[in-house]
Amino acid sequence: MLVYLRELIQDASGGHYAIPAFNVFGYEDAVAVIRAAEELDAPVILATNPGAVQHMPFPYIAPILTRLAEDATVPVVVHLDHGKSYEYVAMAMAYGYTSVMFDGSQLPLEENIRVTREIVRLAAMRGISTEAEIGSVGYSDPSIQMKHEYSDPEEVFRFAEETGVDAVAVSIGTVHRMEVQGAKIDYDLLSRIEAKVAAPLVLHGSTGVADEDLRKLAATRIAKVNIGTALRMAFGKKLRHEMEIRPDEYDRIRLFSEPMEAVKQEALHKFRILGLGRDA
Ligand code: G3H
Ligand code: ZN
Repeated sequence: MLVYLRELIQDASGGHYAIPAFNVFGYEDAVAVIRAAEELDAPVILATNPGAVQHMPFPYIAPILTRLAEDATVPVVVHLDHGKSYEYVAMAMAYGYTSVMFDGSQLPLEENIRVTREIVRLAAMRGISTEAEIGSVGYSDPSIQMKHEYSDPEEVFRFAEETGVDAVAVSIGTVHRMEVQGAKIDYDLLSRIEAKVAAPLVLHGSTGVADEDLRKLAATRIAKVNIGTALRMAFGKKLRHEMEIRPDEYDRIRLFSEPMEAVKQEALHKFRILGLGRDA
């Protein structure tokens, strides 16, 4: 069933689990993620980043994802990831996303607050949930020029109060697109943020977080855990293997079968680490 992030995030924030938001790029990985969620009877967030929307624009990707969500037996949020402007985020709302992130992390604080407030106001008219970022989670890819700045607890407090977002993305040691689990989480900073801020928190760049840390973080106020690179690696590695062992196969449906299964298995693993699923 298609649901709003707001319906899920408060419970996850207080409970001993966190909901994964998986970056998907089309039908194949979205289906694989939903099958994993259904197998565990767990809620899930399908997230599309700017690259995904550039590849498959809103008029095409939004109907596919919202329909998959409606048909699923578990709660599914269709979420816009890292929307960088008011107009872009508004477009996602118009196309049926049930949750949107405005990423003003590269803007001066006042400007980030101003635009986030406008987006929260617009989203409220449609009942759509919102996420925004304060501090900045950088990128391990040097070609992506984004600042990396830890969140300041005072600023997180002010940001949450003045914008009224449903979920606040914080920077506490993760970095986007890491291919190894090398992130060093600043638990002291997280505790200081938790002591000041009541809003549910979001962790970006979670592929780089060790399983042990993810388990611990799921029991904190972190309620939404964004995972992208891990699934892309699962799909890509398996596809490369399939191409190597089947040099005469040109049917993409057959070539995609095992990579889709690999995405499902990786998603199952993350769900369990995050405290969702039977053997959590
Ligand atoms: O917004 C998406 C995520 O933060 C994904 O990060 O690709 O490093 O797992 P990741
Ligand atoms: Zn992110």
